[in-house]
Amino acid sequence: MITEPTTPVFIRSDRAAAVKLSEIVQISETVQARKTAGEDILSFGTGEPDFPTPENIIQAAHAAMLDGQTTYPPTQGTPALRKVIAESTPSDPAARPDPSEVIVCTGAKQVLANAFLATLNANDEVVVPAPYWTSYADIIAFCQATLVPVACKAETQFKLSASQLAEAITPKTKWLLVNSPGNPSGALYTAVELSALADVLRANPHVWVLADEIYQHISYDTFTSFREIAPDLVSRMLIVNGVSKAYAMTGWRLGWGIGPRDLITTMVGVQGQSTSGASSISQAAALAALTGPQQVLTERLASFKDRRDYVITALNETGRLDCLTPGGAFYVFPSCAKTFGLKTPNGTKIANDAEFCAYILADAGVALVPGRAFGLSGHFRLSYAYAMADLKEGCARIAKAVAALL
Ligand SMILES: Cc1ncc(COP(=O)(O)O)c(C=O)c1O
Repeated sequence: MITEPTTPVFIRSDRAAAVKLSEIVQISETVQARKTAGEDILSFGTGEPDFPTPENIIQAAHAAMLDGQTTYPPTQGTPALRKVIAESTPSDPAARPDPSEVIVCTGAKQVLANAFLATLNANDEVVVPAPYWTSYADIIAFCQATLVPVACKAETQFKLSASQLAEAITPKTKWLLVNSPGNPSGALYTAVELSALADVLRANPHVWVLADEIYQHISYDTFTSFREIAPDLVSRMLIVNGVSKAYAMTGWRLGWGIGPRDLITTMVGVQGQSTSGASSISQAAALAALTGPQQVLTERLASFKDRRDYVITALNETGRLDCLTPGGAFYVFPSCAKTFGLKTPNGTKIANDAEFCAYILADAGVALVPGRAFGLSGHFRLSYAYAMADLKEGCARIAKAVAALL
């Protein structure tokens, strides 16, 4: 007798099951589907510069390919790139990193994944100020560790205070994760604020600090690196940075970590069994980015600042949205709490940030990301790395939809 083949039951690993489908991805899929159906949707959901990669960088990549730099690169990164990263990273002169303390990865995201896979055991804790970049939560979940979110409200510019940190630390805490300038809030910590956090870390020698400084060059006020204010803590500090945001190179997938040798060596081991070295061509391009003309950073910063200022004014003028002026990155994270309890023109009551964003998408055709995706409800994230004309049109649509609430 011939039996029907049975469909094998697919069972995800516990690790994979811990990772949820990102709300940002879900929103962008909805937007894509509606755009494909011919609808006029403006999306302010994505976190990437709208500029092209500067030409000198593209030419350097082309030259590298013609030069035969197309073979397996060293897993840790090319010595030339690691040297330039070590030299150009902001640091207290007493703690200047050695190239052996640098790892080059396939994007800053892989630096985080490598670091957490290299250090976290199940149930270890990572203190993360909320709102936070959504991938932190997923990477920590993937390691079966525990994210300990600390709500950092608008009243304190979305920044973690020393007392909040002290309260969040337990014997299980492995890492404090600080992201300045921050995604989604744009919060930029001052040297004084970082120093206060460093004092708490000094009193808790079992806690390491991961400073995600990927938005370093998109700072409207003075940027301070954790490495500059706490040279005594570099033996338990990992700095994360890369070319994605500053040089408009999100597609090149190139980031790096700077930390003590034991940590870096372990991260190299993790990376060696996943992707190996980052693309040799992207490494040549990153070298050109760091050693070439830097004027482009200043020009683009000025453009981001104009757009930030426009968006803040337009949203605050609605009278129903409250938007702080962030010190960095290209996001605003306004409160939409004043709209809660109001009714949309078709009679639906708005109860939270997700419903607010759903209303704006349905009614105004503008895609925003609800704050709950970043661990802090009551707000939404708007990325202003879009053309000024689109931002003007989008803000006008948002204002109209917000005014229509009863
Ligand atoms: C705070 C933060 N860190 C890291 C990354 C990842 O950067 P990359 O594209 O280099 O992986 C992002 C990207 O959105 C980010 O917002």
